[in-house]
Amino acid sequence: MLALHDVHTYYGKSHVLHGVSIEVGPGEVVGLLGRNGVGKSTTLKTIMGIVRPAQGRVVFENHDVGGMPPYRVARIGIGYVPEDRRIFRLLTVLENLRTGLDRQGVTDARREALLEKIYVNFPVLRERRHQAGGTLSGGEQQMLAIARAMMLEPKVILLDEPTEGLMPRMVGQIHEIIRVLHGEGVAILLVEQNVSLTLEVSNRVYIMEKGVVRHHAPAAELRADHAVIHQYLGI
Ligand SMILES: Nc1ncnc2c1ncn2[C@@H]1O[C@H](COP(=O)(O)OP(=O)(O)OP(=O)(O)O)[C@@H](O)[C@H]1O
Ligand SMILES: [Mg+2]
Repeated sequence: MLALHDVHTYYGKSHVLHGVSIEVGPGEVVGLLGRNGVGKSTTLKTIMGIVRPAQGRVVFENHDVGGMPPYRVARIGIGYVPEDRRIFRLLTVLENLRTGLDRQGVTDARREALLEKIYVNFPVLRERRHQAGGTLSGGEQQMLAIARAMMLEPKVILLDEPTEGLMPRMVGQIHEIIRVLHGEGVAILLVEQNVSLTLEVSNRVYIMEKGVVRHHAPAAELRADHAVIHQYLGI
């Protein structure tokens, strides 16, 4: 459904991705692991059109995504939750969610149905709907950022380190959110530093090193392969 073929990306003259190839199938949860600075976020930014690939292809369904502006990439069904979440701190939870509905061709009834589905899946967002986004806990803000991305009804959602900066007990919430998305049939490309969470929730996992994918295996296989985890991730 989503595929990167031999993608090369630069920031100015700095060559960051050196031929990345990754695939995500419909409804699949795919993990992307790697140490700091190997190019995980750049891979997601390249998919979203925030940076352009200098070489290689990004294909989503029958669209050639490479070089599309980010708003169009979002409209064809790729959701994105960046590392910094970008919650509007002064807007309420409901207003934050509505920004995800700001698009043409969606009837009021459909909007209400989408909102209701979010509230059923994330009851705490209903409870806090009139509260400012900035007053939510870190875990709740991450939930709100993911829920807002869901309002665009993506077929695949890219999550950049959703557990970063969260207290350990909040990590379970992220696990639950991923379970909900998976239950809704949404495919997920999950970038994480949390190896155990990634191995638990993913179907398949890619491991990056210095701008390339070095290893690729079913998560079940990696769970039993401590040598590979140690080699590439140093744990
Ligand atoms: N806007 C930018 N301009 C120049 N170089 C950048 C920019 N963003 C990232 N880089 C560099 O590109 C490389 C890959 O960065 P990237 O953020 O993709 O890594 P990452 O795997 O997501 O790391 P982390 O685990 O720290 O989030 C790093 O060397 C980084 O310093
Ligand atoms: Mg990153």
